[in-house]
Amino acid sequence: MPLSLLFLFICDCVGTHIVNGLENGLARKPPMGWMPFERFRCVTDCSRFPKDCISERLMRRTANLLVSEGYAAAGYRYLIIDDCWMEASRDKATHELLPSEDRFPSGMRDLGNYIHNKGLLFGIYHDLGEKTCMFHGPGAARHFNLDAQTFANWGVDYVKMDGCFASEIELDRGYPEFGRALNKTGRPMVYSCSWPFYKAQPDFKLIAKHCNLWRFADDIQDSVASVTNIMKQYSKSQIELTTHAGPGRWNDPDMLVLGNYHLSYDASRLQLAIWAVIAAPLIMTNDLESVRPEIKELLLNRDIISVNQDPLGQPGHKVLTSQNIQVWIRPVTPVSNFGKNSFAIAFVNLGGFAVCPLCPQIYQVQLHRLGLNSRRGYNVMDLFNRSHNLGLYTPKDTFNTRINPEGVTFYKFTVFPSN
Ligand code: GLA
Repeated sequence: MPLSLLFLFICDCVGTHIVNGLENGLARKPPMGWMPFERFRCVTDCSRFPKDCISERLMRRTANLLVSEGYAAAGYRYLIIDDCWMEASRDKATHELLPSEDRFPSGMRDLGNYIHNKGLLFGIYHDLGEKTCMFHGPGAARHFNLDAQTFANWGVDYVKMDGCFASEIELDRGYPEFGRALNKTGRPMVYSCSWPFYKAQPDFKLIAKHCNLWRFADDIQDSVASVTNIMKQYSKSQIELTTHAGPGRWNDPDMLVLGNYHLSYDASRLQLAIWAVIAAPLIMTNDLESVRPEIKELLLNRDIISVNQDPLGQPGHKVLTSQNIQVWIRPVTPVSNFGKNSFAIAFVNLGGFAVCPLCPQIYQVQLHRLGLNSRRGYNVMDLFNRSHNLGLYTPKDTFNTRINPEGVTFYKFTVFPSN
């Protein structure tokens, strides 16, 4: 079947919500991988910062580490170059985009081959407007078909399309048009759009028709304040955001900053748990050579990854706030013979309580208040420690948890009986 036929806007019924969406067959589960921006920014001076500059050396080093450290096997397969990879101008004769000659001397096709030979997938950054966000190279304006074809020639599998230096009208016209240009190449490429980020009032229904992922919040920074701010932006629009997301189309709250300088161990757990609940892409930004062992263990936690990748494909949301405690829930598999699903539930302690702002807090709740109403109950497992099985709870039972400050506890409530 030609790819253009796969690109139909069809009804896809996921659980109880119905959405129209982009169907290019890709991103059936939230993509996982690595992207340099939050950690490596736009370092271009390779003579002074050889290990940190945006270069084929960094990408190859990361490709090797994704495989050798077990990240690829856990699912982190998209290796995505962010901004600052281009020369300042296009090729004078062909108008094609040019990678920096100093930093990508072997060229992008060669880098793509290297990445593919490692069993990984190759992503690249572009911008819909006149220039990229860091003013670093030409944007796609007036060159949509050429640039899409260039990416296809290089073996690109994922395009992060930013929206700097484009008007709102150009964004609304340009994102669908560039998506069609990608489709026309015949090469399947995940299409990640920053579209809503640049709109005063994003039309998520429209965006979900044209993109596999979309950035809806601020650029993430390496701090718990930034993580909780993005959580706030999500919960503010969560009805809309959850309605339009599902297999093939996901809300993107930006990269996982675990493994850098500023997140505590508890805050690292918090980001990972919430990104799993909301079915976010798990795109790390860190130096894989220096991720501390306990953080690496979090990033490779297969129980949490499988919540993120759950086949029901239903993103979760915040269901309850009690002072500075929040409860976030995602419906997941398995589903019982009676059609009741299981749940992943994150209990968040934002800190800031009057008496002791940075103490652990005890929280208790009767499960039916959270919508857990399967009468035969749920078997409860601690997702951060699978050997910690808490046994069976029925809807009338009270569940107790003690949550570290600026941290989370995270459990899977598996409906009983289920296979
Ligand atoms: C924007 C994006 C970031 C990153 C930078 C690169 O700010 O939101 O994720 O790609 O541009 O310039």
